[in-house]
Amino acid sequence: MSIKQSISRFFGIETGSKPQIVNITRPRMLWNMLIYFLFRKFNLIKVPYKAINLMVEISTVCNFKCPSCERELYKNELGGLPKENVKLENIKKLTPILPYIYSVYLVSGLGEPFCNKEFWDIVRFFKKFKIKTGYFSNASLITEEQIKRTFDEKVNNITISIDTHIKEKYEKIKKGAEYENMLNIVKLFRKYKNERNAKNFEIGLNYIFRSDNYEDIIDFLDLAKELEVDFVLCTSLITHIESEVDKSFFVVDIENKRKIFDQTKEKAKRLNLGLKLPKLEPTWNNVCDCLWRHMSIFYDGTVCACPYFRTDRDFYYHVKDKDIVC
Ligand SMILES: C[S@@+](CC[C@H](N)C(=O)[O-])C[C@H]1O[C@@H](n2cnc3c(N)ncnc32)[C@H](O)[C@@H]1O
Ligand code: SF4
Repeated sequence: MSIKQSISRFFGIETGSKPQIVNITRPRMLWNMLIYFLFRKFNLIKVPYKAINLMVEISTVCNFKCPSCERELYKNELGGLPKENVKLENIKKLTPILPYIYSVYLVSGLGEPFCNKEFWDIVRFFKKFKIKTGYFSNASLITEEQIKRTFDEKVNNITISIDTHIKEKYEKIKKGAEYENMLNIVKLFRKYKNERNAKNFEIGLNYIFRSDNYEDIIDFLDLAKELEVDFVLCTSLITHIESEVDKSFFVVDIENKRKIFDQTKEKAKRLNLGLKLPKLEPTWNNVCDCLWRHMSIFYDGTVCACPYFRTDRDFYYHVKDKDIVC
């Protein structure tokens, strides 16, 4: 992990990416950050500062059909999948809080950001406020033009979702994806990063731990190194529908996980790769730090502290013997 990433982690600014010095020259944002640092450890119910990071869902449309995606929950249980591309004019309603915001990530939740035709107008709007901006993508709709545009519009980082280095498995988890195409896109990002000498631009991979891929992470790091990415951001699968319960990372034996995590940390260090691992096991005092710095804004304007807990369902199958454990 780089010094910048360690600083970011220590102060609880963000998870995967490094802090951007150039973006902390805004007085209201700096003031907001200072108040956050002072109060963040008290876990207040009402906080005297505004959000540090925004996750903004700009589309609920997607060209993939990943079986574990939250979209399946809407189809089966929540009365139909919303299909909406958020309009720039609605995004503009966020204007009053944007001078305080440190970073914005597109997209949290149900869709693929590149399905929204106004994607670049929305990015440009956030960049007007000098906000650190990044996007998550399945990579399939990204063309060479979009990559150039990513640099032209001064996007700070991108995160491509790849949950294994094994082609067949990847194409099953990301249903609709083509492995080689995804690899080419990540390589093209690296090529342009080098050509443009964009040292601060970060390329990340998002890896979701599941019961059927958790051992892949060790060899996956070789792929990450080969692709010359800057960080690997790992989280655990949130199981949205009952038929996916056996894919949960919670069903894996804790000692197995501990062994894999130790090897993963050691290997990432050796390869000089930025790595963020999820918590190994739930504990009674395990409080998610996102709650005190993070805000997710959904396509319909509703707001939640976490992108995955937007509905009022009781639990997301993070259960053991029918008790909620996380
Ligand atoms: C919902 S997607 C939206 C962006 C884009 N469509 C993509 O797949 O990258 C955002 C991130 O959530 C991850 N994700 C999808 N389903 C998940 C689940 N059930 N639990 C945890 N993360 C999940 C994806 O791998 C992706 O990295
Ligand atoms: S690509 Fe992203 S949004 Fe689309 S189905 Fe897969 S996880 Fe869901």
